[in-house]
Amino acid sequence: MMGFHRFLGVLSVLVSPAAAQGPAPVLINAPYVTSPDRVVSAMLQLAGVTKSDTLYDLGCGDGRIVVAAAKLGAHGVGIDINPERIREARANVRKAGVEALARFEAGDLFDANISAATVITLYLLPDLNLRLRPKLMKELKPGTRVVSHAFDMGDWIAEKKRIVQGSPIYLWTISPK
Ligand SMILES: C[S@@+](CC[C@H](N)C(=O)[O-])C[C@H]1O[C@@H](n2cnc3c(N)ncnc32)[C@H](O)[C@@H]1O
Repeated sequence: MMGFHRFLGVLSVLVSPAAAQGPAPVLINAPYVTSPDRVVSAMLQLAGVTKSDTLYDLGCGDGRIVVAAAKLGAHGVGIDINPERIREARANVRKAGVEALARFEAGDLFDANISAATVITLYLLPDLNLRLRPKLMKELKPGTRVVSHAFDMGDWIAEKKRIVQGSPIYLWTISPK
């Protein structure tokens, strides 16, 4: 049977501009699937998140990664294209009592100002990661860590890779300009 991440990868090919042979869509949405708690913990651990960090989760879903980072004392920002997800994320951050450390923005991650981040977390799709790469390289400060659940960054070789509950998690660090 086709594994879930492979299914997402196939889906991304189906929605990619090259596969469609048409003009690039304004937005390519990754489907809403949550990272399991153990994967979230492993992502934060791989990035070495501490209270001095500002973590941006691009495509934040219900805000669980931002909430987990805020519980470690880090500042967190979640961005999601779906306003319903942002409503859930705001409710979850209130429920966890960490609203002073977290904020959420409804919008396209490609339009977001991410320059304040010291850590970026992603659980998107292969095509989205590749399209995002130039923005990460251009806008992030050297030393910013990027962690991706499930999908890599093409030929940008990860410094570290862990497998948690059958899912790969990758870490990169933005190099000096
Ligand atoms: C696989 S879910 C990941 C949710 C969360 N980060 C996690 O790991 O549990 C991907 C999320 O990205 C959002 N998304 C997809 N395309 C987006 C875009 N262009 N801009 C912002 N959010 C987007 C979806 O709405 C969805 O909530």
